[in-house]
Order: sequence, then C-alpha cells, then structure tokens
Amino acid sequence: MGEQLTDEEIVRQVVARAVWAPSVHNTQPWLFTTDGPRLRLYADPGRRLAVADPDGREMMISCGAALFTVRLALRSLGYVPQTRVLPDPGQPALVAQVSWRDRAAPGELERQLSGHVLIRRTHRGAFDPEPLPANALAALSDAAARQGAALRIVADDGQRAALAAAVQTAEHELRRDSERLRELARWTPAPGSARGDGVPATSYPARAERTLPYFPGRDFARGHGWGMPPLSPATAHRVAGVAALLTTSADRPADWVNAGQALQRITLTASVCGAAVALHSQPLELPWLREFLRAQLSEGAFPHLVLRVGLVTQVSLSVRRDLGDLLFPASPPAAGQATLPVLQPGEDFVQLS
Ligand SMILES: Cc1cc2nc3c(=O)[nH]c(=O)nc-3n(C[C@H](O)[C@H](O)[C@H](O)COP(=O)(O)O)c2cc1C
Repeated sequence: MGEQLTDEEIVRQVVARAVWAPSVHNTQPWLFTTDGPRLRLYADPGRRLAVADPDGREMMISCGAALFTVRLALRSLGYVPQTRVLPDPGQPALVAQVSWRDRAAPGELERQLSGHVLIRRTHRGAFDPEPLPANALAALSDAAARQGAALRIVADDGQRAALAAAVQTAEHELRRDSERLRELARWTPAPGSARGDGVPATSYPARAERTLPYFPGRDFARGHGWGMPPLSPATAHRVAGVAALLTTSADRPADWVNAGQALQRITLTASVCGAAVALHSQPLELPWLREFLRAQLSEGAFPHLVLRVGLVTQVSLSVRRDLGDLLFPASPPAAGQATLPVLQPGEDFVQLS
C-alpha cells in the first residue's frame, strides 16, 4: 500500500491531481482548504461565468469533477475517503468535505482510472472512423450511473440530427451575443500566454472539421486564427463519434455535483478504453434549448452536457493554476480575492517587482 505519508503530503498530492479535472472554459472554479486529515472543496464564485452560468450549475459540475478526482486520488494512495457533499446549508459554496483515516489498497479499476487523471484531455473536432472497443459504451453508462447521473446515448439518426441542430443553433446564438463574447474573451488567452487558466490555443484546432451531423465547437479563437494545425491532411472519413447527453433526474446543486462526478468518471473511463470525449455545453446555457433537449431527447431528465465519444490521436495541451493559488490552510480567502491584488483608486497597474 506504499509508504506512510504525512497529511500535508497527502493533501498536496491529492489537490495536485484534482486540479486536472475538466472545468467550463478551464475556469477551475475551486478552492481547497485543509486541516489535518481533511480537505474542504469550495466553489469560487469569483470564477463563475456570470453571463453563461448565472445559477452556477456549470461551476458546480466543474467542482463535482474535481471532487471525484480528490476521492480517486485518495484511493490511489491507499486511503478510504469519507465524503459529505454540500454538508452545510449555511455555506452553499462548500461543495464537499472529504476526510480519510482508514487504509485499503486501491482496486484495479481505481488504479486504472487514476493513471489517466493527468493524461486525459478534452477533445475538440472530429474522430477517427473506427468503432469504440466492445463494452466501452456500457462502461461509460455504468460510470455515470454509479455517480447518480445517466449517460443517454443518442443513437437514432433523427435524434442525433436534432441534437447536432441544437448545438448549431446555440453556437449561432452565442456568437451573436456581445456580452457572452466578452465573457468568452476573458477565458481565451492569446497564444504564448503564461496564464494557468482559460482555454489555451494549444487545446483546440485552428480550423473546424466538418462532420455529418455537425456539432460545432466553441469559437475560442474569436477570429484571430489561433489554434493547432491539423495533425495530418483531412480525410473524408472523420466522424462525429457517439453522441450522448449527461442527465440527472432532478436539478438541484447536489445533482450538479453528481453530474460533475459522473463527467470525470466518464472521461477517465473513456481514456482507459483508449477513447476521448468532446464536450458541448452551448445548448445547455440557453434555457429554451435546454428545455427542448429535456422534453425531446432525455425523457424529462435534466440535461447538463452534450458528449461525443470516439477514437482519435490527441495532441492537445492544457494548463492549470499553481497550488499556491488555490490551496489554503483552514479557512478560504473571501470569494474572488484568492489571486487578485486590490487596486487602489487611480492605480492602473500592479507593481511587479
Ligand atoms: C461544465 C463544463 C462545460 C464544458 N463545455 C465545453 C464546451 O462547450 N466546449 C468545449 O470544447 N469544452 C467544454 N468543456 C471542457 C473544458 O473546456 C475543459 O475541461 C478545460 O478547458 C480544461 O481542459 P482539459 O479538459 O483538456 O483538461 C466543458 C467542461 C465542463 C466541466
């Protein structure tokens, strides 16, 4: 089961892995505090997408993905996590409290999933035409169910076309909305940026790859021509992959956390199967399209994300913030003040000595 680590060493190893969870626009909307054998995971409302995510649903999904990674990392170190989700109604930003005392060797599945935390990447674009390995879809659906969510595979051609049309319509709307564009711009740094958050140009293709049906990606480059060149000349045979909706039966913050835990378990399971996952949250950010998907494609369950799963050679690179910006002893700093120095009136730039 490995050597005995101090609580501090455990916390650093666990949080260093948790930050590699997926988050909307790579906002990494989380903070961790620690005292002894206990971690608290807080949502950081200062990193919420105020325009796209007014209720904080995507923020809580992102935190749920980090929570699953915390639990998995503890298991991989041979500890048994005890988790309380949203333990204090008086502190809605306190997503979870995780403590550990008992030890047990990790199982094979935990070991495998854990081995993919650092190498999993969100895919953007088309997939190779080869089918997924047998049983992969069953494993992904099981991964969602075990975290209190459901992965609904949209296999019927008509429904797949409707789902793609919803993503197209949403993307079209989002590109016409100047407030949303301004918000997206804040999370899409230029190539070469030293930032540890946001969606870097090393993580999306420079040119959209058309598939049938077409699930357009977000406009991270915003007309600047940023992004990665294609790996090889485009072939006519690239496909959209298996399309699915991630849903929960209710729509409370606890369900959003479940959806996030399920999301990370799904993406890691896919990675173990040699597959990658593309995410589209565009139609879920527009209430009328979310309602359309709920009524037409998910039998009344609440949809959170459109997923596409397939095989592909990935070259995408992402970034993360330093632990010093998000891991604190005992109590967290006030929301939004974790990393931003306060400017005095009339002061334009922070002095960087
Ligand atoms: C709630 C949520 C919504 C997301 N929506 C999209 C999306 O619409 N388009 C996209 O390309 N990626 C989406 N992502 C993926 C993030 O952009 C990605 O996790 C982040 O940039 C970090 O990159 P990585 O997953 O490769 O580590 C979403 C992730 C989450 C958790």
